[in-house]
Amino acid sequence: MGGAVNRTGPEGEFVMATPQANPLLSELEARMAAHHLRGQWQADANRPQKVGKGANGQVQIEPVPAGVPHVWKWQEVLPLLRSACEAMKESHTARRAMVFTNPALQRGTTQTMLATFQIVPPGEIAWAHRHTINALRFSIKGGEKVFTVVDGRALVMEPYDLILTPGWCWHDHHNESDQDAIWMDGLDVPLTLALNQSFFEELGEIAQDRRGEDVPSLLRPAGERGVSARPYRYPWKEALRAVQAQSREGVDPCHGRILEYVNPSTGGAVLPTVNCQIQVLPPGFEGERFRHTASSIALVIEGEGKTVFDDRELEWGRNDSLVIPNWCRHRQINRSKREPAILFTMSDTPILAALGFYRSESRDSAAASPSVPAFKLSAAE
Ligand SMILES: [Fe+2]
Repeated sequence: MGGAVNRTGPEGEFVMATPQANPLLSELEARMAAHHLRGQWQADANRPQKVGKGANGQVQIEPVPAGVPHVWKWQEVLPLLRSACEAMKESHTARRAMVFTNPALQRGTTQTMLATFQIVPPGEIAWAHRHTINALRFSIKGGEKVFTVVDGRALVMEPYDLILTPGWCWHDHHNESDQDAIWMDGLDVPLTLALNQSFFEELGEIAQDRRGEDVPSLLRPAGERGVSARPYRYPWKEALRAVQAQSREGVDPCHGRILEYVNPSTGGAVLPTVNCQIQVLPPGFEGERFRHTASSIALVIEGEGKTVFDDRELEWGRNDSLVIPNWCRHRQINRSKREPAILFTMSDTPILAALGFYRSESRDSAAASPSVPAFKLSAAE
């Protein structure tokens, strides 16, 4: 098959192996390289993967998680954000943001997404631009005088509101309050760069013209083709109401209770590349082990707990952020016996589902074929 040498192992099993080095083969590989050809049998050291054997001795390959689990502690990040306002009186790149760099990745928080903490001090405008990168903002410190303008609509950023800036939407951020505004950004930067699809444009003005407040409507001015009626703001008040309404539903042994933010135009995820959820771990919850091929980043809204991985435990509390790389086995634990823990999470599940790559494994499914969930795709608008 394609140049690989197939042979039988000591126990009669079927294995793939690289061919024995010999002068003829070395000379062939050198001649091939001169013509920009490479043997399929030549190992690719840049492709991390775990090679194992199945029950019948057959070769099995699975991904190695990209990056490592990590927690960014709010109490450690907050003074750094405030120092950034002192060290940079104005933001020269328009965004005073600090990227959560995964300790085991060259760039990004996961292989497809990155998160940042961004601070906008009182009176500042993070000027208008747009890019093909899809982005979201999850507000931490905000209020009615903090807002993002998305394609002409001013979207207020109260604490824990979700604001979307889908690819190629003009956006500028404003803080007209007397307190620092801080939020977590989520962006599909590593994916966009890997696909070499990054386009960026400055408006050339500090702020775009506003067409009015954010009033999601089923009507629009005639001729405004392409302007979506979908919401770009998901207020925390509404999310919390949905969480409370769900409190009598059953609890999933791995995940607790999960609610998904929905794009009502498609019934799918809020961004083509990113799915957003609220995860509620009831008091005393000790989840079962789970892993899936999606990577995720969480921000703790309320509560204290820990996430247990094969080789480490990471403790978290309010406003801390956590990354769970792809295919990383983990359990979620709420340390409180009285209060729920509530997490906002974003994951790259829509990409994997669209490509047919999504797999998950829990205690119940470990011995079975990988499961593909009933996950709705977000169709492009
Ligand atoms: Fe942006």
